[in-house]
Amino acid sequence: MSTLVGHNQAVIPDDVARSVILPSSYRDEAGIVHPALTWLRANMPFARAELEGYHPIWLATRHADIVEIEKTPKVFRSGLGEPYINSIVDTEFLKEMNEGRRGLDTLANMDAPEHTKIKNVTSAWFMPANVRTREESIRQIARASVEKFFSFDGECDFVNDIAVHYPLRVIMSLFGVPEKDEPIMLKLTQDMFGNSDPEQQRKDVPVTPDVAARAWRAAIMEFHSYFNQLAAARRAQPTDDLASIIANAKVDGEYLPDSFVNGYYIAIATAGHDTTSSTTVTAMQQLANHPDQFRAAQADPGLIPGLVDEALRWASPVKHFHRIVGEDTDFRGQHLEAGQSVMLMYPSANRDESVFDNPWDFDITRRPNKHIAFGYGPHQCIGQHVAKLEMRIFFEELLPRLKSFEVAGPVSYVEANFLSGPKTLPLRFTKA
Ligand code: HEM
Repeated sequence: MSTLVGHNQAVIPDDVARSVILPSSYRDEAGIVHPALTWLRANMPFARAELEGYHPIWLATRHADIVEIEKTPKVFRSGLGEPYINSIVDTEFLKEMNEGRRGLDTLANMDAPEHTKIKNVTSAWFMPANVRTREESIRQIARASVEKFFSFDGECDFVNDIAVHYPLRVIMSLFGVPEKDEPIMLKLTQDMFGNSDPEQQRKDVPVTPDVAARAWRAAIMEFHSYFNQLAAARRAQPTDDLASIIANAKVDGEYLPDSFVNGYYIAIATAGHDTTSSTTVTAMQQLANHPDQFRAAQADPGLIPGLVDEALRWASPVKHFHRIVGEDTDFRGQHLEAGQSVMLMYPSANRDESVFDNPWDFDITRRPNKHIAFGYGPHQCIGQHVAKLEMRIFFEELLPRLKSFEVAGPVSYVEANFLSGPKTLPLRFTKA
């Protein structure tokens, strides 16, 4: 299947590249994306895709290669473009709308030393010791979600009835956004990240790249106006929430510029819930498929952290992050030119046969579990301890109260190549 061009420049067959890169493939990740990733790991683990409508993209599919790239941020840069892959039309459109500047002043778009300074503003807040002080308030939110689950009387859509709301409430409470404004946050996140999914678009407007890019920009503008007011309120009256920490932080003796405060707020508000929600849904789906593991976790809550890690590995809700080559370089026998894109395929790393025994088995007792669902290196997810804590607490509250449950209908998935996961999970259940 491989095509060799020039000096050892392997070009990925078109059907494989389409299966990995196009957002539409993610409607069937198990049937389309994973077979292509498995083929790439075995045959062309680091190779170039030249797909119509996209600039050439290097695809990294092995765990070790992704780790290596993430450990070399001077060459594989984050600050030279958007953190995720866009088509040429989208890229040009966004550049035009952003007047040549980077889209958002946010961590994922920065390189050191700027990245280090800005990340340090919240790194102590996000450390396990501080995050654990929120355990009791998160548990209250988890209990309310579990009550809501049982109010559905034996059947619900676990995604839309429960899982999208719980992480949103947790992150917004840590952040300081009142509950009444959560629907706005949810809608804006979906506009930003689900914008290639026709079902998450306005029904009266056809989804062209132009429409999707405008929706993205409109969402950012709305976020800005909301967050400008929030930052002003926290500077006037500081509190101990995350919004206040960021609004009142000083770097080199100055408050962060508004665009940086906004970029931080948007990253936390958006990265913090869709990802956690998809992972929670995946954990439920897999427990339904493996009743023995459900019983085991129910009998021994000490297995719940293992459940969370295995669900992270299995779901890998962030499908890729993107780096831009900062200077001509050679990597794994290939010559990369400055300005080229590299797509780091986390779902592939997390099924890598050379790292995981039986990678296609869902196993909550897997030890060690070296998944990189949170990335690796200096850009590794800042919210990982929050995400793990809130999922652990949710399952600690839910599992003892469940007698049995099963998947009660077809599961559908979001059409997006950056953040994707189940869009619906119909469940039938009985109370313990
Ligand atoms: C299951 C949940 C989550 C997953 C799977 C996830 C995954 C990721 C991944 C893969 C990255 C990129 C890492 C890299 O480039 O090496 C990332 C970065 C980031 N995440 Fe998360 N994330 C999750 C939850 C959260 C939460 C709860 C928050 C906030 C409270 C958050 C905030 C961020 C931020 C701000 C970054 C940028 C960090 C940087 O560039 O330095 N994430 N996340």
